[in-house]
Amino acid sequence: MKNKWNNRVTQILGSQYPIMLGAMQGIGKSTLAASVSEAGGFGIITAHCFRKPEKLRNDIRKAKSMTSKPFGVNFSIGLVRDMDAMLDVALDEGIKVIETSVMPGKEYLPKIREAGAKWIHKVACVEHALSTERQGADAVIIVGMEGIGFKHVSQLPTLIGVTWAVEQMKIPVIAAGGIGNGRTVAAALGMGAEGICMGTMFVATDECPVGKRHKRSLVDAKPSDPLFRNQALNPPDMSVFEEVMKDRGNMSMEEWLKRLEKVMLQQSPDKPYEAQEMAGGSLAVGFIDGIVPVKELIDTIVSDTEEILLNQIPNQFSSIYKM
Ligand SMILES: Cc1cc2nc3c(=O)[nH]c(=O)nc-3n(C[C@H](O)[C@H](O)[C@H](O)COP(=O)(O)O)c2cc1C
Repeated sequence: MKNKWNNRVTQILGSQYPIMLGAMQGIGKSTLAASVSEAGGFGIITAHCFRKPEKLRNDIRKAKSMTSKPFGVNFSIGLVRDMDAMLDVALDEGIKVIETSVMPGKEYLPKIREAGAKWIHKVACVEHALSTERQGADAVIIVGMEGIGFKHVSQLPTLIGVTWAVEQMKIPVIAAGGIGNGRTVAAALGMGAEGICMGTMFVATDECPVGKRHKRSLVDAKPSDPLFRNQALNPPDMSVFEEVMKDRGNMSMEEWLKRLEKVMLQQSPDKPYEAQEMAGGSLAVGFIDGIVPVKELIDTIVSDTEEILLNQIPNQFSSIYKM
């Protein structure tokens, strides 16, 4: 069957829709990744969910037994242990899309290319998107401030960051951060993004391996809740960030990464870490109406996007446009 949605991102991913699952520490394993691919999106297994390369291999094989559609593997550089061996396993298992994030991933490009795979890098600011393009990436994911994950001092809201990047770049941009329904996907396409990547929305699906209580808390949450608002919209403090960067090499990598994570994940000193981790969501929580199967989430987003772009916007615009 011919893809109804066909662009540079679906061609890179080999998926039906340019809708990617975000990498997710502790959660992004085969069950969720295979469900997303099976539903027409593009699933991602998060390598640092596993401590040993063979465990990653087993999970990739498990995903293959659940879907014949393609999926990728994320390497959150610095968080994944035994990076070279882990990457070897993914490539050896025939994974054709390698996503890197957190730290620059360019040193792995020769190996990725040798295996005939594509390289997508995820960044939090436009400057890094531009350098990723220069380094030879096939596509870049830009996460706006509305999203969850590693923050950056130069991060912009999704609307501005993605639009500004698209105007300067040749490779496809995949938008992330606060995307969760047909309107936000249509908006991302309007900004010039050729794909979208979602994390939070997939946490509240049946297939996501977190407890019901956590999922319910996302259904009940509002984007205006201080817990979500503050974590999403406050960039890390530049001076604290620079201090941590100066300490690189002065302590074990593991200890340094823990410190960096604390700064970049915006963990406030007056809130216990567990309380913030429990939130586990971005401003996209506003679009979570219930706990649904992955296929229902993707089908709804796709049909709503089609309705908005093919009917609502053309009708709305033709009623205001006068020749
Ligand atoms: C629970 C959770 C854990 C995450 N862990 C990681 C991670 O380990 N590495 C990474 O690159 N991104 C991680 N992310 C970020 C997502 O991959 C994605 O970029 C982000 O969720 C997009 O914003 P959204 O939540 O608004 O959709 C995580 C997101 C969530 C919700």
